[in-house]
Amino acid sequence: MRVIAIVNQKGGCGKTTTTVNLAGSLAADGCRVLVVDMDPQAHATLALGIDPDELDENLYEVLAEPGGIDCLEEVTLEIAENLDLAPSGIVMSALEQKLAAERDDSRTERLAAALRTRSHAYDFALIDCPPNVGLLTFNALRATKEVIVPLETSRFAIHGVQKLLETIGLLAERIGHEMEVRVLPTLYDGRTRFARQTLAEVRALFKEMCFDTVIRQNIKLREAVGRGVPICFYAPSANGALDYAALAVEVEALAPTDATAAQAPGPEPDAGPREVVVRFRDSHASDVRIAGDFNGWVPDKGVRSLIESDGESRVWTKILQLPPGTYHYRYVVDGEWQEDPENPEAVTSSVGSRNSVMVVR
Ligand SMILES: Nc1ncnc2c1ncn2[C@@H]1O[C@H](COP(=O)(O)OP(=O)(O)OP(=O)(O)O)[C@@H](O)[C@H]1O
Ligand SMILES: [Mg+2]
Repeated sequence: MRVIAIVNQKGGCGKTTTTVNLAGSLAADGCRVLVVDMDPQAHATLALGIDPDELDENLYEVLAEPGGIDCLEEVTLEIAENLDLAPSGIVMSALEQKLAAERDDSRTERLAAALRTRSHAYDFALIDCPPNVGLLTFNALRATKEVIVPLETSRFAIHGVQKLLETIGLLAERIGHEMEVRVLPTLYDGRTRFARQTLAEVRALFKEMCFDTVIRQNIKLREAVGRGVPICFYAPSANGALDYAALAVEVEALAPTDATAAQAPGPEPDAGPREVVVRFRDSHASDVRIAGDFNGWVPDKGVRSLIESDGESRVWTKILQLPPGTYHYRYVVDGEWQEDPENPEAVTSSVGSRNSVMVVR
């Protein structure tokens, strides 16, 4: 069974549409497919015609306790020939919190373990992820060696995707398995110059990481969601159906290989250290240090510090010499460890804390 996670922390870029319609097209091609809805919003469940509020059981039962993994078959619903669903529900939003509070090492492994119990039953498991990189997405990434990142071409979204790819690369390193990541241009409207330019940039930037298939904007895709069926069964000749059929062919043709680790287009490997300057502002703190994987998590080790005042608050400037790469760090403010409040890029560490992420180019 090939497990593919559909991931992007950005909302509304076509994750659920891709999960459900790629699943439909693969099933129509005769592949046995399981859709795994890891999003508490349960959009994939709804898009496959199931009302999550009417279900007694969903993935929560599978993932909430270590012993739940054997329940996967029990909670799975048959949607169509070759197409099954492991449904979500609103209770899944409590799961994120529950797992965050646990100390059990298995908490990020549960989906992987559950899917292993059913690997003989399917050719593909497609995991629809929520629009964040929390413990539910982490469970999905641990379960998979292939990732599809839908990228909306109708808005400027490339920057966020590069960050996401870096985060996935980091997770891959930490998890200790490699992931093959591909970018899928979605919501493409070829009539606008902006979309054409964006697509050209995406192709230039991601090169062979980018699918040849492009998913065009197509109103029938929205309608199919409302009907609760994949588009290939609802409007098989619509552009949306043709695009997802093409994607299915492309996905089937990609043999699951020994992937190279997920990486955004990055710096030359021989590049030397860079001077990196970060600042922390606070009006109350009296001692601020920085610790990360670059200094073995020893606060301020190898770091030059300057303290200034900008009127209202004090500003701690930390100057580091770092070779190009991606680093995790936290501030230690009067002895309390915390993430960088000015950096939106952070990942949940294996012990549940939030580490800020910096990329040195
Ligand atoms: N190619 C398309 N053409 C037209 N509408 C689309 C297309 N792809 C997605 N949509 C619509 O855009 C909206 C967002 O898509 P979707 O729900 O798949 O995104 P998402 O990434 O799963 O969002 P979230 O992050 O909230 O889970 C939905 O209303 C969907 O029907
Ligand atoms: Mg979604």
